[in-house]
Amino acid sequence: MKLCIMGTGYVGLVTGTCLADLGNEVICVSGDENKINLLKQGKVPIYEPDLNELVEKNVKENRLFFDTDSEKSIQESDIIFICKGTPSQPNGQVNLKYVEDAAIEIGRAIDDYKIIVNKSTVPIGSGDWVSMIINDEQEKLNKNVPFDVVSCPEFLREGSAIYDVFFTDRIVIGSSSKKAIETMKKLYEPIINQTFETDINPRPKTKVPLVVTDLTSAEMIKYAANSFLATKISFINEISSICEKVGADVTKVADGIGLDKRIGREFLDAGVGWGGSCFPKDLSAISQIAAEYGLSTQIINAVVQVNKQQRSNIIKKVQELLKIIKGKTIGVLGISFKPNTDDTRYAPAITIINNLIKLGARVKVYDPIVKDKPSDLSEKAIFCKDSYEVAENSHLLILATEWDEFIKLDFEKIKKLMSKNLIIDGRNVLDKENLKKIGFTYVGIGR
Ligand code: UDX
Repeated sequence: MKLCIMGTGYVGLVTGTCLADLGNEVICVSGDENKINLLKQGKVPIYEPDLNELVEKNVKENRLFFDTDSEKSIQESDIIFICKGTPSQPNGQVNLKYVEDAAIEIGRAIDDYKIIVNKSTVPIGSGDWVSMIINDEQEKLNKNVPFDVVSCPEFLREGSAIYDVFFTDRIVIGSSSKKAIETMKKLYEPIINQTFETDINPRPKTKVPLVVTDLTSAEMIKYAANSFLATKISFINEISSICEKVGADVTKVADGIGLDKRIGREFLDAGVGWGGSCFPKDLSAISQIAAEYGLSTQIINAVVQVNKQQRSNIIKKVQELLKIIKGKTIGVLGISFKPNTDDTRYAPAITIINNLIKLGARVKVYDPIVKDKPSDLSEKAIFCKDSYEVAENSHLLILATEWDEFIKLDFEKIKKLMSKNLIIDGRNVLDKENLKKIGFTYVGIGR
């Protein structure tokens, strides 16, 4: 099939590349000429494992194209994916400007039947709103080309995006049009039936469940999924604080409850809290949507509150260990909101670093991928070339992101470099017993 992907951000690039790899002809469109030129040369502007190689392969095999001309790209395609950013506004509402711009371009350009797929996470009801904009634009040009809007939410995680697309837990298709649903089923058939070629052997899945529903329910599924996942994390973080007081180990508690199939072990890792480009935005959006209907989201509000508290709890731990923070040197390992990504949006590390600096600490930081200072990180944060430079003369180390290389560090060497041997394992990934044996005072989260 011929596909047009509007938006070359995270979701757009990954979706477009994976669908090209399944054999479709895909044009990714963006108004950003520099970005398109870079992509044409196979240079991917985001850090995502294996994405570069997959882009290069599909460009070389003439299935994946990049263009600034949206009109031509829309007209040449059977299905148009809206994969535009939907950032939060200061009041928590979603900024739909980019989605609106895409819908206007589609309304102006379409000249025969098209399926418009909303991949962006948009407030409930946005599918109908996109239809309205396309119709309005058509009316201005005195045309009435038929089209259908589909919601097909994306559930990929940064850092494992390609795997998550090919081996997703489910595909959700929401539309009132039988024709559009059948075409979408055909497009996703290789994933649903797991018939595409892969080096992974044995395949993690034999078949992927498909949920066909109405537009609004599909939009709701995405918000409810992210809210539930964030709830699991905040729940275990709340439990972790109780574990600390009573002397239990939250990692064992998570194992113990996670074995119950009704609960499941995933997303029960206690730590410094959740961040990223999705959970904070989506939880705030769903509260906002509920408020528009006179409802309050009591569970979601508590989930957000516990998450804020979790970041403050790290500062409390630092105070307990160091007593006075002013004048102390603290090393922070990891800036990105999770490993295997360069994304620092709502990263817990940033809140922690900024608060420590406000309290008078000198903070040294290192991240394997984040090399440019994020705009919301204090100017005073000192970037180091590696973890060992961070450790030099530090009184305390905080592991904020569980990058693999931090787990494999030579802690004997780290101990010799530090002024004091205090460590806060903000992700419960380090070998607690070994660190204690070496001579560290180890503080985890709920253990
Ligand atoms: C999330 C959803 O998982 C994905 O389905 C959706 O499409 C987009 O939002 P992402 O934001 O990429 O994906 O990362 P995710 O792996 O979900 O982690 C989110 C945050 O939760 C990270 O800060 C991570 O460190 C934290 N987390 C995750 C925990 O603190 N504990 C856990 O057990 C799991």
